[in-house]
Amino acid sequence: MDTGPEKAKSVLVIYYSFSNQTAKLVHHLRKGFKEAGIEVDTLKLIPKKKLSFPLHSVARTISMMLRTFFRQRVRIRSVDKEKITKADMVVLAGPTWSYNPSGPVLDFLDRYSDLLEGKKVLPVISCRKYWRSHYRYLKKKIDSCRGKCLVPVVFTHKVKEPWSTIGTFMTIAGINPRHHSLTRKYYPRYGHNQAQLAEMEERARGIARSLT
Ligand SMILES: Cc1cc2nc3c(=O)[nH]c(=O)nc-3n(C[C@H](O)[C@H](O)[C@H](O)COP(=O)(O)O)c2cc1C
Repeated sequence: MDTGPEKAKSVLVIYYSFSNQTAKLVHHLRKGFKEAGIEVDTLKLIPKKKLSFPLHSVARTISMMLRTFFRQRVRIRSVDKEKITKADMVVLAGPTWSYNPSGPVLDFLDRYSDLLEGKKVLPVISCRKYWRSHYRYLKKKIDSCRGKCLVPVVFTHKVKEPWSTIGTFMTIAGINPRHHSLTRKYYPRYGHNQAQLAEMEERARGIARSLT
């Protein structure tokens, strides 16, 4: 495994975010890169059929978790291939869905991973806790198209179990954890905290230093 990026002139951040957590990380990643003088472009993966967060249903949440466990693809709109071919380095960011990359990222990899040939690809993962098999899948796919998969940047939710699982499930299903006494007490927030976002920015500056 490569341990980090070397020289690059421009970075393309390809991302999908369902509940805005990856989007927040990407915002701070871009900020860190830009402050360090790196040229950053973004490519947001947009599902053809809109996916709305939250799902407003326990049944729909369970169904989504099952379907994503079997790596169901979510078809995305066509992307600008030139943006990818022009980039020196690519960041591929998104959430973990049932131990896997999210459906839009899977569809992206199915259709466009050949464009990553010869490129350094930095996976950025937003998840509650379990990201390893997600990363293994990304690495396998990137290796198979002769891209260079870098050590991933991973951010988990900073809440203890079982509250993290319970609170995440409730939030996705559209049940506000703050409206229930136990989860109000033990589940302070869904997603990443301010310190993690600041850390993302700092790490981006570190990566940028190694690029320049
Ligand atoms: C369908 C679904 C399945 C998920 N499965 C996992 C999982 O297996 N492991 C994990 O750590 N987090 C899991 N999560 C939680 C998300 O990875 C986490 O909330 C992430 O921060 C969301 O990022 P996003 O807002 O960019 O979509 C799942 C979320 C959804 C919607």
